[in-house]
Amino acid sequence: MSSGADLATSYPSLAAVPRARLARFLAGMPKTVLHLHLEGSLEPELAFALAERNGVEPGSDAFPYPDLEALRAAYRFDSLGAFLDVYYAVAGVLRTEQDFVDLAAAYADQLIANNVRVAELFFDPQTHTSRGIAFSTVAQGLWQGLERARHAGVRVQLIASVLRDAPVGTVSDMDGVSAEQGFATMEEATGWATLGQLLDYQSTAAPERRIIGLGLDSYEKPFPPELFLGIYERAHAQGLLTTAHAGEEGPPAYVWTALRRLKVSRIDHGVRSTEDPRLLEHLARPHDAAHIVAAYGEPHRVPLTVCPRSNFMLQVFPDPTASNLLELLDAGVLACIHSDDPAYFGGYATDNYLAAVEWLDPSLAQLHQLARNGVQSAWLSAADKAPLLAELDAYFGEADALLGGGG
Ligand code: HPA
Ligand code: ZN
Repeated sequence: MSSGADLATSYPSLAAVPRARLARFLAGMPKTVLHLHLEGSLEPELAFALAERNGVEPGSDAFPYPDLEALRAAYRFDSLGAFLDVYYAVAGVLRTEQDFVDLAAAYADQLIANNVRVAELFFDPQTHTSRGIAFSTVAQGLWQGLERARHAGVRVQLIASVLRDAPVGTVSDMDGVSAEQGFATMEEATGWATLGQLLDYQSTAAPERRIIGLGLDSYEKPFPPELFLGIYERAHAQGLLTTAHAGEEGPPAYVWTALRRLKVSRIDHGVRSTEDPRLLEHLARPHDAAHIVAAYGEPHRVPLTVCPRSNFMLQVFPDPTASNLLELLDAGVLACIHSDDPAYFGGYATDNYLAAVEWLDPSLAQLHQLARNGVQSAWLSAADKAPLLAELDAYFGEADALLGGGG
């Protein structure tokens, strides 16, 4: 294996590489996608097509954008909440199983086009079940659409995310719920009811279409992770792996409670962790707790899935050159690059690497490290990661030829 240090000395600076050549290099680089909301990959054109197919009037309360231009004009966010308001309004056009097939198929094409090897993708069941759509309609539609990525050799998994601003409910909400039914309101589509539906779905799904994990997303403050302690305990007991959004807008304390109490094996965003040196130290060390070994097959660091374009668009870092991604790397944190909601934030996997390179000017060695971290952060065993890492190392072994010279 070529080490990052060798590469750093053999190639001067990525800043000197013409943009088109750099974009080509990043497009061809094998990638991992671990922080991606499928609903956030709904492009405006497809949203309007689905609205029309479902008889949803553009400009109505159900879809408050009269035309493409008006929707695109709404893509100016000053916070996570401002974005989510639009994201949920647009997701309302997703109604039938075919809609979820079309959404996921369009994203599957992006996985292939972006040379993604491993994808662990979020969806938000409650966004749909609270509108009367069955959990199984959503999950089966998504899997059907994603099939073409699997056929192309992408390792694809689904993670069901609970909405932190929706009612948590109580464990009794699991009684009698079925994945085949939706709910009339969000008040009924509680976190516990959603876990009940997820487990009901798992009991009949083909093994390759089971859901691998549970996530936690949506409006971050004031909804600390510990509200979901019971749900996460039950999810672990049922063999689900877990992650949670924390430290995007919320404080480092949210990251601590996700780690210590929810026992997640990954943190989504987590960029505010640099505010707490003890937390950084914790993240930089491997841990051997059972939930970590369950996710990675060995003691492991807890990764942070950082999303450069998202952090810029939601003004987590209004000056994108102030992103702390490289600081996290320097601290020994397993930070990696992802796309979050690509239809809203201006780009898919390759675009996020390109943004990070342009904004942060990493060395080639740091870029190699970030790409390797993506593989290391997947919920795969070391044996499954080995060929992916070897492919990546071979690609960086060709970096001089791919990035330098003429042409
Ligand atoms: N953050 C939190 N929740 C979300 C996001 C996000 O970027 N996208 C979809 N749900
Ligand atoms: Zn996210």
